[in-house]
Amino acid sequence: MQKKKIAVLFGGRSSEHEVSRVSAYSVIRHLPREKYDLVCVGITKDGRWYLFDGPAEEIPDGRWERSSRKTPAFLPPDRGVGGLVAAGPEGARTVPVDCVFPVLHGRNGEDGTVQGLLELCGIPFVGCGTLSSAVCMDKAVTHSLLSNAGIASAKYLWFYRHNYPGGKQKIKIKIEARLGYPVFVKPAASGSSVGVRKVAREEDLDAAVEEAAREGEKILVEEAVDGQEVECAVLGNLKPEASAVVGEIAPSAEFYDYDDKYKSGKSKLYIPAHLKEAAAQEVRATAVRAFRTLGCRGFARVDFFVRNGTEVLLNELNTIPGFTPISMYPKLWEASGVPYGELLDRLIELALEEHAQK
Ligand SMILES: Nc1ncnc2c1ncn2[C@@H]1O[C@H](COP(=O)(O)OP(=O)(O)O)[C@@H](O)[C@H]1O
Ligand SMILES: [Mg+2]
Repeated sequence: MQKKKIAVLFGGRSSEHEVSRVSAYSVIRHLPREKYDLVCVGITKDGRWYLFDGPAEEIPDGRWERSSRKTPAFLPPDRGVGGLVAAGPEGARTVPVDCVFPVLHGRNGEDGTVQGLLELCGIPFVGCGTLSSAVCMDKAVTHSLLSNAGIASAKYLWFYRHNYPGGKQKIKIKIEARLGYPVFVKPAASGSSVGVRKVAREEDLDAAVEEAAREGEKILVEEAVDGQEVECAVLGNLKPEASAVVGEIAPSAEFYDYDDKYKSGKSKLYIPAHLKEAAAQEVRATAVRAFRTLGCRGFARVDFFVRNGTEVLLNELNTIPGFTPISMYPKLWEASGVPYGELLDRLIELALEEHAQK
């Protein structure tokens, strides 16, 4: 059988650019080479696209950007091309690909933008389509759609940053009345805990809002849930499955912030989570229900809080979950009997199946 050519996209114009490089390197190393050929496409922080054919070891720390082994390349929306167009010194050439795996986190990659481009190109791609990617990128939209489906989350409110200076007093009254301190202030559309702060007192609200506002226009404030943080991995298209095993995070800091996720190495993952069977089953069933409700495809990691060991509150869906060697998504499948390489194989098959349905 002829090998399929998979394009891995990494980097991107996102505050999670660095995480994406590490995730992509891990995906590249685990992709079963007997079945797949690889094309690496790096997107710089300022949004330039390159075909990179140097050693993959230069990807995680960003050295690839200084390499001579990169050629400007782009994905044209023209359906006749079926791949990338690379513009080297010898002129433009087409690089056909069978499937794209966008290993991009956060904005301009996980939010439906790249998915829209791929849909126009008519190339199969791993993961959620435009709508579900965009919905899951905005935590306020996610909460409101899920609450319609009877899926609970923490109490929340949201506002636009440009309304804060003038509307501060009203917002503060609402926070006090509806949520009560402590609260979490976060950008509605971000990831990797960038711009997320826990606020214990009203006096500290302004600074937290200012920080969240750096990430975008829409700001979310949630009651701080005192509970466990658990995560469930979902895989599939129209008949998605939850990982048999649910994982738990024990942050080393006050909450699971950026350093805790990627730098300090002090937070702990428990696989399986410390949950009674009934709560774990509820987490799994809710993860699948949320995935279906929001129209997800391929994969998503669905994150929850569990209060008092019983009350299950959905925190967020990550439509391109971390794939670094310490990431929960691949670990949960491994613990559920699906090794990393096989997981990648399943994801590509799901992408091809989904494309065939269109
Ligand atoms: N409402 C909340 N209650 C308790 N902890 C929270 C809440 N919201 C966020 N956190 C903490 O902040 C971390 C990052 O917030 P999250 O909403 O998951 O954003 P991100 O998309 O950046 O991961 C969570 O993993 C958790 O530790
Ligand atoms: Mg999170």
